[in-house]
Amino acid sequence: MPHPPQLTDQFGRRITYLRISVTDRCDLRCVYCMAADVQFVPHRSLLTLEEISRIGRAFVSLGVKKIRITGGEPLTRKNVAELFRQLGRLESLGELTLTTNGTQLPRFAETLYGAGVRRVNISIDSLHATRFRDITRTGTLQRTLDGIDAALAAGLKVKLNAVVLKNRNHDEVTDLATFALARDMDISFIEEMPLGLIDEHDRAEAYYSSNQVLADLRQSYPLLPTTESSGGPSRYFRIPGRASRIGFISPHSHNFCDQCNRVRLTAEGRLLLCLGQEHSVDLRRVVRANPTSDDVLQQAIVEAMKIKPRGHEFDLSTKPVIFRHMNATGG
Ligand code: 5AD
Ligand code: SF4
Repeated sequence: MPHPPQLTDQFGRRITYLRISVTDRCDLRCVYCMAADVQFVPHRSLLTLEEISRIGRAFVSLGVKKIRITGGEPLTRKNVAELFRQLGRLESLGELTLTTNGTQLPRFAETLYGAGVRRVNISIDSLHATRFRDITRTGTLQRTLDGIDAALAAGLKVKLNAVVLKNRNHDEVTDLATFALARDMDISFIEEMPLGLIDEHDRAEAYYSSNQVLADLRQSYPLLPTTESSGGPSRYFRIPGRASRIGFISPHSHNFCDQCNRVRLTAEGRLLLCLGQEHSVDLRRVVRANPTSDDVLQQAIVEAMKIKPRGHEFDLSTKPVIFRHMNATGG
């Protein structure tokens, strides 16, 4: 039997993980993610859900085992449940998951479970209503809390994501961890990444390193490093006797590119080979030029791996080199 085709880049990294942004739109306006006057991609430029499903299928046939649906806020895309159902039926896909701000989960949690989703990442940066509003510009804390409850009630395993910003929420890391521990949820603390120009704060001033967060948490909890890896950028710690894992995503203080196993598809169909670089291939053009056969699409995906760069080069002391905002990239 021939081996199923695999995706491997020129540095020998196996690509088994695809993140798909289904929309750049969002019902929130987080200060680190978007400019206040953000301009969204016109609807006509987006891949259709059928096209997304086709591209997802092509990746799975090339050995991708995990797909994460992201945004913007993915649950604001019309008919997105159907996409989850279609991808959830792909037999050799090991995991289908999503990253969400949680606001729509009371409506969607059970449907997602029914489609085969078992885990979700929910973003929450503060447990204080006024701070939550300040950071998200438009959000209501209770909506996200209700979303977390709905996910847990539907049987989904929840990981929280918190972006830590100095003088905005850095003093809340222990409270956020305590909140996660009480419900056996995992939590990851994320260093802000310089994606896109933002007007609201100076990213160098807001920098609060993962090591500082770790030291703060250790005032209250004994954190033991683990060797567990999701093949991703998180470093994980555990607290004896507790189910939760505490993770750190540290693009500045801890480079994770050597282990990179992922690529990203934007809502417009650009395949991004690295979060921190502009190398990309236009898969929308490929699917539209080849409506009936996936051979050319598969070939384009295999070829794209050759331009996957070695790593990102984030530098807080200069202006961002990446002009895409996170909502256009998929978190
Ligand atoms: N740096 C780090 N994380 C970010 N997110 C959005 N923008 C940034 C950024 N500039 C996070 C969100 C969420 C996920 C979608 O990405 O908080 O957890
Ligand atoms: Fe929306 Fe997530 Fe960006 Fe916040 S970080 S504006 S919730 S996409």
